[in-house]
Amino acid sequence: MDSVDELDRITDAKVLLRVLPGIAADTHPALATGDTGQKFGLGEGELRRALDVLGGRPDLELVGLHCHIGSQIRHVATYEQAARRMVGLIARLGRPVRELDLGGGFGVAYTSAEAEFDLVGYAERVKRAVRYECGVHRVPEPQLVVEPGRAIVAKAGVTLYRVTSVKHPFVAVDGGMSDNARPALYGARYQPRLLRTGPTARMVLVGRHCEAGDVIAEVDLPRDVHPGDVVAVPVTGAYHHSRASNYNQVCRPALVGVRDGTTRVLVRAETEEDLLRRDVG
Ligand SMILES: Cc1ncc(COP(=O)(O)O)c(C=O)c1O
Repeated sequence: MDSVDELDRITDAKVLLRVLPGIAADTHPALATGDTGQKFGLGEGELRRALDVLGGRPDLELVGLHCHIGSQIRHVATYEQAARRMVGLIARLGRPVRELDLGGGFGVAYTSAEAEFDLVGYAERVKRAVRYECGVHRVPEPQLVVEPGRAIVAKAGVTLYRVTSVKHPFVAVDGGMSDNARPALYGARYQPRLLRTGPTARMVLVGRHCEAGDVIAEVDLPRDVHPGDVVAVPVTGAYHHSRASNYNQVCRPALVGVRDGTTRVLVRAETEEDLLRRDVG
């Protein structure tokens, strides 16, 4: 939970209290969620108040403390720092904590220029940091919990667009910021490919929406790219379908599962009828 008054809205539950460890994570500012002054999590004073409230609520069982310092974090050192802060906090509270949940956020490479997050290094170094700090502060070692999201599913998704028009260097496709908000929100960039080869030129892949910021990638594509070509954008399995919107009243695309060469529609494409269904005027 993120605020003390949320405790009034739950009954008979196991509770992890989310705290702000005060870490400015090495990621885009919009993805950093563990620094002081954030809307997420509890500061130390609020945490103490939440613990007082829990003291009078036998139906709520405190399982542990939680923090999620952000997403697309690249360096293990950032998590080590968070882990050390969390153990320091546990020591100051003066009560043992069964679980310490350090959230997710492990960075995923969207292009070949980006490094992969060192997951094995994370496991070893964060465990070591927690053990060391618990020894220093003489508190029992909590059970460590992680909540990876993107790192599990991002690479399982590929977005397919149809090229609708070409005006060098711009290649426009039949989707964009309504199915992928990341470029417009954080300036994220991708490494799309055309489903055929040929001599290439630098192109700007743009979406269909009425925004100059609706840019998916600057990328080398076959010079003769033309309407009807299919462009594949890899690493779109996380925060794409789930965040798709009707921006500019564009219908959301279908979600198709692929396994062993067979396909199955998991979510059908939206139709204009779907969009108009709420119109009662
Ligand atoms: C509390 C919490 N835990 C875990 C995650 C997963 O983050 P990621 O997908 O970056 O690993 C999120 C994402 O928003 C979150 O809010």
